[in-house]
Amino acid sequence: MSSVDVSEDAYAPHIPGGSVDRSGTARALLLLGRGSDPDSERGVDCPGELPAISDPGLVERARAAKAALGEKVFVLGHHYQRDEVIQFADVTGDSFKLAREAAARPQAPYIVFCGVHFMAESADILTASSQRVLLPDLAAGCSMADMARDVQVHHAWDALTAAGVAADTVPVTYMNSSAAIKGFTGEHGGLVCTSSNAERALRWAFAQRTEGGGQPKVLFLPDQHLGRNTAVRQLGIGLDECVVYNPLEPNGGLSVEQLQAARMILWRGHCSVHGRFTTAQVAAVRERVAGVRVLVHPECTYEVVSQADLVGSTEFIIDTIESAPAGSSWAIGTELNLVRRLAQAHPDKQITFLESTVCYCATMNRIDLPHLVHTLEGLVRGEVYNQITVEETVAANARTALDRMLAL
Ligand code: 13P
Ligand code: SF4
Repeated sequence: MSSVDVSEDAYAPHIPGGSVDRSGTARALLLLGRGSDPDSERGVDCPGELPAISDPGLVERARAAKAALGEKVFVLGHHYQRDEVIQFADVTGDSFKLAREAAARPQAPYIVFCGVHFMAESADILTASSQRVLLPDLAAGCSMADMARDVQVHHAWDALTAAGVAADTVPVTYMNSSAAIKGFTGEHGGLVCTSSNAERALRWAFAQRTEGGGQPKVLFLPDQHLGRNTAVRQLGIGLDECVVYNPLEPNGGLSVEQLQAARMILWRGHCSVHGRFTTAQVAAVRERVAGVRVLVHPECTYEVVSQADLVGSTEFIIDTIESAPAGSSWAIGTELNLVRRLAQAHPDKQITFLESTVCYCATMNRIDLPHLVHTLEGLVRGEVYNQITVEETVAANARTALDRMLAL
């Protein structure tokens, strides 16, 4: 297996306000909330005047705007959202639950998505064309999703074709990817997965009858860790049957023989938040807290996941803690907003954060109360800010890949 590299330099995330591209060249600074970043799965434009963060009336303003909109608006909130935002969500969930909830609300003309850009894109694809999906801050992207660009994925497919393996390869893309990559996946007979159904998605992919007539392989995008953890731990595929395709190197840094021998071709992407959890932290918490159970998200590395007691999506993490007995001790390896909320909601259980330092998802945190108020008050005035629209040419194939997931 190629070594697991979670270094930040290899894939510098595009942070509005001062980003660095993958070649290390300084990029023009984008003022926060202005302009656009063509290299990212999200834009950064935020029109109009934002309410001041210091405004003591923000909670009341959000409440009043939401009440005025009534049934016209449906607010979805991912579990990593801030407390100040999540309190206004009509439904909270992991990526899978939110995709399903968006698809199940045909009566709401406006869906306000408190999450990140790829989630809002999926919601737009899954909702009726008359419905409008709004992302309160367009700078809420995802550094992992940015690690797989449409053009890079097409180059990878060319490399697989040249190696004679594309006809036997089924692409599986994690929800955390652009609509264009979901579209590529749908077009090539593959499907989308989330952290809560990756095992079923991989089993589906390996059961496909491919055009090449050989044993299917999977090209897993863009999170190498979710792909490896699922393939090896849940499907029993060998670590030596997984290779890592590096989009920054010719042929992905792989020989034709390596591509031919592999069963899982893992895209070299990772989550910068979950990449911070280490096996040393797992060992340290076991030393410190007697009887502690370690519960982590599958975006963590294979090494960390192998040393944890339980692994699952954000929804699974919540369900596990809710059903845990009083007095039990837990160390949780996922985004800090969620872990803090769990600790507050369950004072009868000892809940520790696996990392010793602050570990928020910077882009999830872009959605704050001023942006939410701005969006809701805009709707009250009849102004639609930050609508997410996926072109139908892309959306059609992406919908195919999403529908295959929803049908699993
Ligand atoms: P889930 O909520 O689907 O577990 O995903 C976590 C995540 O990283 C979303 O970006
Ligand atoms: Fe992306 Fe990681 Fe943030 Fe999820 S937690 S939105 S994968 S950067």
